Amino acid sequence: MCGIIGYVGHRKVVPLLLDGLRRLEYRGYDSAGVTVIRDGELVTVRAEGKLDRLVERLAGEPVDGSHGLGHTRWATHGPPLERNAHPMVDARSRLALIHNGIIENFLPLKRRLIAEGWEFSSDTDTEVVANLVSSYLDEEGDLRGAVARATRELEGLFAFALVSISGEREIVAYRQGPPLVLGIGERETFLASDPAALLTYTKDVVFLENGDLARLTEDGLEIQDASGEAVERESHRLLWDPIQAEKGGYKHFMLKEIHEQPQAIQDTFGGRVDFETGEVGFDYFSLDPEEAGAIREVHLLACGTSLHAGLVGKFLIEELARLPVQVDYGSEYRYRDPIVNEGTLAIGVSQSGETADTLSAMEAAKERGARLLAVCNVLGSQATRIAEGVVYTHAGPEIGVASTKAFTTQLVALYLVALYLRQQRGLPIGPEIVADLAHLPGAVDEALQQEGAIEEMARKYHLEEDFLYLGRGINYPIALEGALKLKEISYIHAEGYPAGEMKHGPIALIDQQLPVVNIATGDKVFEKMLGNMQEVKARDGAVIAVTDRDPSELEEIADEVLRVPRLSDHLQPIVNVVPLQLLAYFVGVRRGADVDQPRNLAKSVTVE
Ligand code: F6R
Repeated sequence: MCGIIGYVGHRKVVPLLLDGLRRLEYRGYDSAGVTVIRDGELVTVRAEGKLDRLVERLAGEPVDGSHGLGHTRWATHGPPLERNAHPMVDARSRLALIHNGIIENFLPLKRRLIAEGWEFSSDTDTEVVANLVSSYLDEEGDLRGAVARATRELEGLFAFALVSISGEREIVAYRQGPPLVLGIGERETFLASDPAALLTYTKDVVFLENGDLARLTEDGLEIQDASGEAVERESHRLLWDPIQAEKGGYKHFMLKEIHEQPQAIQDTFGGRVDFETGEVGFDYFSLDPEEAGAIREVHLLACGTSLHAGLVGKFLIEELARLPVQVDYGSEYRYRDPIVNEGTLAIGVSQSGETADTLSAMEAAKERGARLLAVCNVLGSQATRIAEGVVYTHAGPEIGVASTKAFTTQLVALYLVALYLRQQRGLPIGPEIVADLAHLPGAVDEALQQEGAIEEMARKYHLEEDFLYLGRGINYPIALEGALKLKEISYIHAEGYPAGEMKHGPIALIDQQLPVVNIATGDKVFEKMLGNMQEVKARDGAVIAVTDRDPSELEEIADEVLRVPRLSDHLQPIVNVVPLQLLAYFVGVRRGADVDQPRNLAKSVTVE
């Protein structure tokens, strides 16, 4: 939700900022802009729409400077027009500011500044900060002092960075909520809202804490904490490969990331499972048997696709660790009064570790005494900082806005958490319980071999306007996920339903215009799923089946059969979702949708 990049050093600034913005564009693509300092002046170029518009504009009016900032916007305050694009320059043209997040009290501040004679040219909350900081520049004497004073008056969750015409070659940045990562190079420093933007230039990074104010120069970083004390923040070495953040010959990141799943899954369980004993262990999360025995229930907190992973996690933890599990939308949990105590293990599930709703729910659980674990993909993100333990999903950078490899690695991570809780609670474990994990990457690879058939299917179904997805038990969340993928990528209305519920309402929708995707794998509910498919067929709906059976078994009922390999019931959802991801992708592509950057969405939703 808005991408931020900044650079001070010896390289050409604008190409570096544009390269960083290209990697951050998934965070928002309503407008983009850069500001550089050239001969003591602010030079700002902004354009409405996607980054390419800015690139075109810069090609027509090339600029560069000694240091600068770049921004890609996901609109919150004010429509996606050029006047609302960042960087936002203050009314006296002394500084430029880029911002991610929301200033909740911007209106009273704006009224006050207008009364003091400050002019505004945008509808944003961002411009209020630019003018507020500028209003303190003379009294405070420098940019850092002015920012420190302004931040004392701001309410909300936000991160921003500024450059000014003071003559100092510096960037000043502040974090209160959304992440800011600082990169350290040889006589150069970087700033970004996501480490993926910095990978090509440096792997040594520092994550700002909430309340931190940083000054970046080519000589390095100076950081002050919320009390104004100078602090050193721990430096981390990024393990992600810059190539992972490229399309690598694929037409879209989404397709590339779908294909990366076998490796990402392998990386997520690799080194954590002993296949001879069935034991599981993590680097950043442990509970001794006494602590594990004290857990009475688990709360899984997440949003969107990560919530669907949580719904599968409920089955896994209940069945394997024999603990009751609740799954909650982050946005709902914090606004009710959940029953939480020291016996609660709350698990926040989040690819980005930045989702405001999930973070608030995690905080709410922690405040009420829960133990807190994060299942997360991004090193150093806020979810990993507030939790006492972290199980990283090793998916690598996920750039496509629709989550694919992040989802399947979350399922693997939750499976491992379930096994770990089982083991630490003294329930029997053994090699048989983990044996199928070793086959999982190969099984996902096999499911990917259906790509050609699914592309063909998409040709047939891409003009439909509604889809229904049905699943039972542990595959019901996969029906939800299949429907979510389709609607966000192709803008087709799609609903996921527990198959048994169809007769209680949705069956009224079925006619020739409604393709129904049925997940019919395993033995437990296969016959029941067959019954549901018959009901669809009897009402002329098109039946699409995802199955691990021989297609001949479904010949009479299904119009289309997508074959997946068979695994244990607990791991089967991970292969079942693969054809659904491909179906959504190819339908979206055929409809001409922008599958990597669907309209109205952003990858990290850092506002509530
Ligand atoms: C859907 C999707 C979103 C995210 C949700 C949570 O494809 O990507 O639904 O899953 O916004 O994001 P994280 O996992 O970063 O907390």
